[in-house]
Amino acid sequence: MEKFSMPTRIYSGTDSLNELETLHNERILMVCDSFLPGSDTLKEIQSHIKSDNKCEIFSDVVPDPPLDKIMEGVQQFLKLKPTIVIGIGGGSAMDTGKGIRFFGEKLGKYQIDKYIAIPTTSGTGSEVTNTAVISDTKEHRKVPVMEDYLTPDCALLDPKLVMTAPKSVTAFSGMDVLTHALESLVAKDANLFTIALSEEAIDAITSNLVECYRHGDNVEARKIVHEASNIAGTAFNIAGLGICHSIAHQLGANFHVPHGLANTMLLPYVVAYNAGQCEPALHRFAIAAKKAGIASPGMGDRVAVKRLIAKIREMARQMNCPMTLKAFGVDPAKAEELTDTIIANAKKDATFPGNPVVPSDDDLKKVYESVIR
Ligand SMILES: NC(=O)c1ccc[n+]([C@@H]2O[C@H](COP(=O)([O-])OP(=O)(O)OC[C@H]3O[C@@H](n4cnc5c(N)ncnc54)[C@H](O)[C@@H]3O)[C@@H](O)[C@H]2O)c1
Ligand SMILES: [Fe+2]
Repeated sequence: MEKFSMPTRIYSGTDSLNELETLHNERILMVCDSFLPGSDTLKEIQSHIKSDNKCEIFSDVVPDPPLDKIMEGVQQFLKLKPTIVIGIGGGSAMDTGKGIRFFGEKLGKYQIDKYIAIPTTSGTGSEVTNTAVISDTKEHRKVPVMEDYLTPDCALLDPKLVMTAPKSVTAFSGMDVLTHALESLVAKDANLFTIALSEEAIDAITSNLVECYRHGDNVEARKIVHEASNIAGTAFNIAGLGICHSIAHQLGANFHVPHGLANTMLLPYVVAYNAGQCEPALHRFAIAAKKAGIASPGMGDRVAVKRLIAKIREMARQMNCPMTLKAFGVDPAKAEELTDTIIANAKKDATFPGNPVVPSDDDLKKVYESVIR
C-alpha cells in the first residue's frame, strides 16, 4: 500500500506572516533562532501578533541543538504553559522548538493546541517533518525524535526571511534540499506522490540555488527555493532518506561540519554508489536529470547520471563549498582514526534503512574515505 499525507497547512509568499494575525488570546512561546533578537525580521514577525496574546521568547538556540539547551527551554515552557509554540529560524531553531514541545508536554502533562513553524533557511524542511534532530554531545551522535504529532500544524514560508542568511548558509542549506530530493527520489518508501515532489525539487534547486547564492535579494528565486525546500521535506518525510544523511550526521556530530555541507561532500559519491548498485535508482536519477534539463532526452541512463553528478559538483564549486573534510579543516589522520565508529553509527542512524540498497561496511567505508582528503 502507498501512503501520502500532508498534515501541515502551508502559507507561502511575502504576505504569509499575515496568518499570525488570526491568533487571539493565546499564550505563545516563540522559540527563535539566535540571530533574531533585535533584528528587523523578528520585529516584522512580532508586528503580526495581536496584543491580546501573551508572548514570550526563548532564543538560546545553538546549531545542532543539544539536549541541555532544549531542557532550558522546557523550563520556560513549564512556567508559561503555552497554548501555541512558534519555531522560527533554521532547522536547528525549529527542531529546538519541537524538542521543547516534546519534553514540555510530557513533563507538563498537557498538550499545546498548535505548533507553527517559520523557516528562515531554505533547507531542512523541518516545518513539515515529524522529526526533531537532537545532538547527544557525550556520545557524539545525532538522535532524531520522530513522532507524527510533532509535524507542525502550520508553516509560513516567507522568502524575505531567508534573505539575511549568510552566503554559506544559503549554499549549505540549499544543497541539503538537493540531498533530500535526490535521496527521497530513490528511497525505500518512495511512491508516485513523493517522486513527483522530489523531481520538482531537483529541478527547482538545480535551476535557482546558485542564483540565490549570487543574488540573495532575488525574491522570485528565493521563493522557488523556499518552496522546493518545503516539498522536498514532505517527500523525505514519507519516502525516507539514505546513506548520505546517515554518514552526514556523523560528520556533524564528530567534526561539526554543517549539516548541508556534509551532505554536499558525500552526495556525488552516494548518487554514484546507489546508481551503480540499483537499476531502478539509476533509472529514476536519469529521468529526474532529464526533467531538470541537466541531461538531454535521448541520453542513456548512465550518461544522464554522470551529468547529474557533474551538476552537483559544479554547483558546489560555484558556491565555494569545501568538498573534503581536510579542506574544511579536519585533520585527515583524526578522520581516519574514527572510521570504524563513524561506519557503526551511520548504520544505526534512523535514515539508514531508507537507502535503496543495503551497503556493506566496506561500501560505506569507501564513501566515507572519499571525502576525507
Ligand atoms: N527536523 C528535520 O526534519 C531535519 C531535517 C534535516 C536537518 N535537520 C537538522 O537541522 C539542522 C540544520 O539546519 P539548517 O541547515 O537550517 O541550519 P541552522 O538552523 O543550524 O542555521 C545555521 C546558521 O544560520 C543562522 N541563520 C539561520 N537563518 C538565518 C537568516 N535568515 N539570517 C541570518 N542567519 C541565519 C543560524 O543562526 C545558524 O547560525 C541540523 O541540526 C540538522 O540535523 C532537521
Ligand atoms: Fe538534511
